[in-house]
Amino acid sequence: MTNKFEKYIESSAIQQKIKFLADELNREYHGKHAVIIGVLKGSICFLSDLIRELDFSFSIEFVRAQSYGMHGKEAKETKLFNFDFNVSNQNLILIDDIFDRGVTLDKICKNLMKGDPKSLKTAVLLKKKKEHESRLTPDYFLFEIDDRFVVGYGLDYKEEYRGLKDICFVK
Ligand code: IMP
Ligand code: MG
Repeated sequence: MTNKFEKYIESSAIQQKIKFLADELNREYHGKHAVIIGVLKGSICFLSDLIRELDFSFSIEFVRAQSYGMHGKEAKETKLFNFDFNVSNQNLILIDDIFDRGVTLDKICKNLMKGDPKSLKTAVLLKKKKEHESRLTPDYFLFEIDDRFVVGYGLDYKEEYRGLKDICFVK
């Protein structure tokens, strides 16, 4: 199992960057309430580690994004589920695993904005160095990475490997 992967970002580096992000969010949302929205399923590890470092008031919601018509890793269509919570006049913090083409985050943000939130910030674990299809860029990203396929720490290949502690390349 272990020699199937090449370590790319170590668990300790992820945890350190999460603490930096948490410090920034703790300053920004001090005395405020936020709704943290995780994108299922890739954000699960990032979200669960991040929230344990936060000291402002927040609630948690999840949306599910599913890509259809996969051709390689390019999805023809991304469908969204679970948009049944109220975002009106709320400070939203959207958490996702990776900003690749940017299509998923863009689509979710557009949907959230329809609900008239007070504010919306986006935080992703990884941002790929490439031309993105979306004009939106995440407000926060922990690592900018080469345009290669990665797994682990929430990220999957065909629903596997989400539980790896490090972010890895599949050999
Ligand atoms: P988008 O291209 O930015 O819309 O990203 C769509 C989704 O593709 C992400 O939320 C991930 O679930 C998935 N994805 C993109 N790149 C990778 C990768 O390198 N590893 C695992 N999943 C990825
Ligand atoms: Mg995903």
